Amino acid sequence: MKDIYVLGIESSCDETSVSIVKNGTEEIATVISSQIDIHKDFGGVVPEIASRHHVKNITIVLEECLNKANMKIEDVDAIAITYGPGLIGSLLIGLEAAKTLAFIYNKPLIPVHHIAGHIYANSLVKEMEFPLLAVVVSGGHTELIEMTDHYKFNKLGGTLDDAIGECYDKVARVMDLEYPGGPKLDKLALKGKVTYKLPIPLKDDSYNFSFSGLKSAVINLAHNEEQRGNELRKEDLAASFQKVAVESITLKVRKAILDKGIKNVIIAGGVAANNILRKAMKDLTDELNVKLSIPPIKYCTDNATMIAAAGYYAYLDGRRADYYLNSASSAKLN
Ligand code: KG4
Ligand code: ZN
Repeated sequence: MKDIYVLGIESSCDETSVSIVKNGTEEIATVISSQIDIHKDFGGVVPEIASRHHVKNITIVLEECLNKANMKIEDVDAIAITYGPGLIGSLLIGLEAAKTLAFIYNKPLIPVHHIAGHIYANSLVKEMEFPLLAVVVSGGHTELIEMTDHYKFNKLGGTLDDAIGECYDKVARVMDLEYPGGPKLDKLALKGKVTYKLPIPLKDDSYNFSFSGLKSAVINLAHNEEQRGNELRKEDLAASFQKVAVESITLKVRKAILDKGIKNVIIAGGVAANNILRKAMKDLTDELNVKLSIPPIKYCTDNATMIAAAGYYAYLDGRRADYYLNSASSAKLN
């Protein structure tokens, strides 16, 4: 069979990224321009600023990726683009670039849902085996997705309020950690002990999650300690927070594995980089005799490699977009 090269573009939040992937599994070249240093002064991503930087970066990143791959746009078979969900202004920049390339070079335009991208980051590591459960944990999402085949998604549940990564970042602010605080909190927790008592959120019979109550509990705890004149042991608070945040995920993952007869679990999204979550998932899947796949950290956070990989499977699934494709800030995975 002829090799298929997909050029992927990702600009849904604060990373401008372009990548070329062969047959959905082999990364040829990727370039990521991150705006973290710009947004950290504001304690989070400022949408307007993010859009402006995407405009500035997109053609540079594209050119750099093609140079790195030693390829021309004529050499690729399709253009895959994140159309949503994400920040509308950011999404639009990548989308317009993708549409322009598809039009000028007469290439099929493949619409990719950002979460499908995170899930398909796994196909860059090993072949995906179905049926599987995708645990999507990122700055914008916390979802359990059952997949019976390529591009057959069934959402079992998700967060009712904040995403887990958002919660990590907000809790990290309480500890004076710089944005994005998730990875810094993870590191800090290694030096701490679980000493603070925090509630495990949404301990119910659903597949849903809730993180806003936990975030408030941490803020209240820090406030009370300050009022009592007690020193806040940040390392211990980080460890105590991680314990319950991760436990609330494993609880629902355990339920889904048992209820649905799942044999393969994959973890996707930025928070898949988390040490405690990785260990908890390994222990759980070992105990239940289920296979586990976690992409390397470079594929966990936002990147276009995963979009090009997902784009390949969407291409095989016959998915095509026309030039009326629009960005959708809260697009549904289907
Ligand atoms: O997937 P991603 O790059 O962007 C979204 O699509 O949201 O995820 C970013 C999120 C941020 O909230 C960041 O703090 C979190 O992933 N994150 C972590 C870790 N590494 C990244 N959270 C906890 N522990 C980590 N090691
Ligand atoms: Zn993401």
